[in-house]
Amino acid sequence: MPRYEDAEWRDSMRIRFDYSNMLADAVGKNRGTTEDELDQMEFRLSAGLDVLRRRRGPKDLAWMDLPYQQETVEEVLAYAREVEGVFDDVLVLGIGGSALGVTALKTALLPLGSDYWSLEQRRRPRLFVLDNVDPDWVMPTLRMLDPERTLCIVITKSGSTVETMAQFLIARAWLREKLGDAAACHLVAITDPAKGALREIAAREGYRTFTIPPGVGGRYSVLSPVGLVPAALIGIDIRELLAGAAYADQLCQVRALKRNPAGMNAALQHLAYLRGQRISVMMPYSQHLRDIADWFRQLWAESLGKQMSTLGKRVNVGPTPVLALGATDQHSQIQLYMEGPADKIVNFVAVERFAEEGPIPAAEPGEEEIAYLGGHTLAELINVEREATAVALTKAGRPNCTHIFPEVNAFTVGQFLYMLEMQTAIAALFFAVDAYDQPGVEAGKNAAYALLGRPGYEAQAVEIRST
Ligand code: PA5
Repeated sequence: MPRYEDAEWRDSMRIRFDYSNMLADAVGKNRGTTEDELDQMEFRLSAGLDVLRRRRGPKDLAWMDLPYQQETVEEVLAYAREVEGVFDDVLVLGIGGSALGVTALKTALLPLGSDYWSLEQRRRPRLFVLDNVDPDWVMPTLRMLDPERTLCIVITKSGSTVETMAQFLIARAWLREKLGDAAACHLVAITDPAKGALREIAAREGYRTFTIPPGVGGRYSVLSPVGLVPAALIGIDIRELLAGAAYADQLCQVRALKRNPAGMNAALQHLAYLRGQRISVMMPYSQHLRDIADWFRQLWAESLGKQMSTLGKRVNVGPTPVLALGATDQHSQIQLYMEGPADKIVNFVAVERFAEEGPIPAAEPGEEEIAYLGGHTLAELINVEREATAVALTKAGRPNCTHIFPEVNAFTVGQFLYMLEMQTAIAALFFAVDAYDQPGVEAGKNAAYALLGRPGYEAQAVEIRST
């Protein structure tokens, strides 16, 4: 029986949320949240959960049901078995929501730096995610790889994103040059079931395809084939990942605000924003969790940063998400967070049990200044540093909260990703904005199409060139 089927194990893997340093009692009345404010938000959470419940389903908020897609999981795992041992490298071509989640999964769940191990040591393909069109990155990456041993996974929901499709054309030519018609067996397309250029090309050329369900937008797609296919190919336990997400789904349906981690943090972030604390820092004290904070930066920014409210009012609203890494950024950012403008809240992410302890040897005679370190471990050090920073911030009247992972594994990662998606969906209801559109991004995309001469964008090109 897999461990995630054991209820006791699941509960032992629950990510705890300590928000005590967000409260007025801890950081002062003008800086922190009061019990009265929380009481008012409880009603709004309940109303928000009703809205999400009504919209949940394949026709609208399909991302909410991604933890339960058994058929897709079987299909993905069957493909992973089929190509096991065939490829040494997997190259993902995608951007935004079609890349950040994959990177987050890889960083969180593979041994850090294992791409530098030999194939015998790692016993899985390496994974590269090219999420930029910088030629000085793309071209050398392709030159380093062997087309005969590389699988290219092209991921784009719209099937037409300029960066991804440019990369696709380059990668396809690179594969064809060496492999001829067999190039098609080295290409996988993950895209919309019906629309877009990539779907058409994949059908014509016979690529293996996986579908991004219609109601799943880019930044909510990590638990769809977008994240699952690359994750399964590099040996991540995708069933455990989804079991963690399903566990979070349960926790996030609770109506009591303080017992609903997504609702509670959405409320705290919203209230902080109204008080003028408009910058929200996510600071994991874990190298493994760094790229989850990067993934979240997109989720929070694109979902909440909006000009218009759902009531049709111009609001130009949205908290600014910032990524920082503990303990590294204590030597870069904390000075600002502690003494700079009081416009931030810090969301720490802690790990209780690291996979390694990292024992620190005793110092030698004559090294008294560093002797206190001997006998401790790096795991202790990084956690003590986080606690000390939280205490110091609180004393300085700077609100902060902590998500505590019992350990980093596929279950806790799936749990956290889903919880953050729910937090974002609920926060969007509090801010009264549409969490699923991105008109600001579309404007930039369309301008790029116009400047590159895409048919249908001629008028826009003239307009841009005349300004
Ligand atoms: O969240 C979103 O919808 C966007 O960030 C997209 O993921 C991003 O623009 C890439 O789009 P696509 O997947 O269509 O290539």
